[in-house]
Amino acid sequence: SIKGCIFDLDGVIVDTAKYHYIAWKRLANELGFDFTEEDNEKLKGVSRIRSLELLLELGNKSVDDKTKLELADRKNNWYVEYISKMDKSEILPGVENFLIKLKENGFKIALGSVSKNALTILKNVGLIDYFDVIVDGTKVINAKPDPEVFLKGAEGLNLNPKECCVFEDAIAGIQAAKKCNMKVIGVGSEEILSDADIVICGFENVDIDILNFT
Ligand code: BG6
Ligand code: MG
Repeated sequence: SIKGCIFDLDGVIVDTAKYHYIAWKRLANELGFDFTEEDNEKLKGVSRIRSLELLLELGNKSVDDKTKLELADRKNNWYVEYISKMDKSEILPGVENFLIKLKENGFKIALGSVSKNALTILKNVGLIDYFDVIVDGTKVINAKPDPEVFLKGAEGLNLNPKECCVFEDAIAGIQAAKKCNMKVIGVGSEEILSDADIVICGFENVDIDILNFT
C-alpha cells in the first residue's frame, strides 16, 4: 500500500508552469519565432538546458554552447524575477489541505522536482515545512523522464518505490514515475496525461482516499 507521496512542484503545487511558459515565450519572441502552449507541454518536467534545446529546435536555430548558456540564463533571470513576487496566494487550490491530511494520516511527503529554483518557491509560498525530503534540480543529474528524481525521493523517505505515489502535471514526469514502478496521479488534462493511472484536474475537493485507487 501507499505510504508516501512524491510531489512535482511546477504545475502541481503552484502554478509556476505559467511563469516558465511566459519566460520561454519571451525568449522565443526575442529570437524571432513564436512559442505556443502546445509547444510548451513538451518542456514541462524537462531540465532548463534541455528545454532550451527543444525550444531552439522548434525555432530552427542552432547556436554554440556558450550562447546556449547565455540564453538559458536570460530565461532564468526573467523566471527568477517572476517567482520572487510569489506568496501563499499562489498555492494551487486544495493543495495545502491535502498536505495537512497526508500528515495527519501518517503519510510521508517528498518533493520531486528538477527545478533549481524549487527551494526559493517553497519558501516564498510557505510550504517548505510539510516536506520530509526535498529532491530538486541541485540534487539530480538526470531530468525527467529519467526516474532519478523520484528514486531519490523514495530513498530519502526510506520507502520502496511501490509504496510511493507521484503527483505530476508533465508527460515526462509520468514517464519517469512509470519507469520506476510508482503509482502516478496526473494533475491536469486527461487528454494530455493519458499515461497516468488516474487524472485529477486539481486538489480541490480531493480526499486522501484517492491513494487507495488500486
Ligand atoms: C521543471 C519544470 O519543474 O523544472 C520545467 O517543469 C523546468 O519547465 C525545470 O524547465 C527546470 O527548472 P529551473 O527552475 O531549474 O529552470
Ligand atoms: Mg510540473
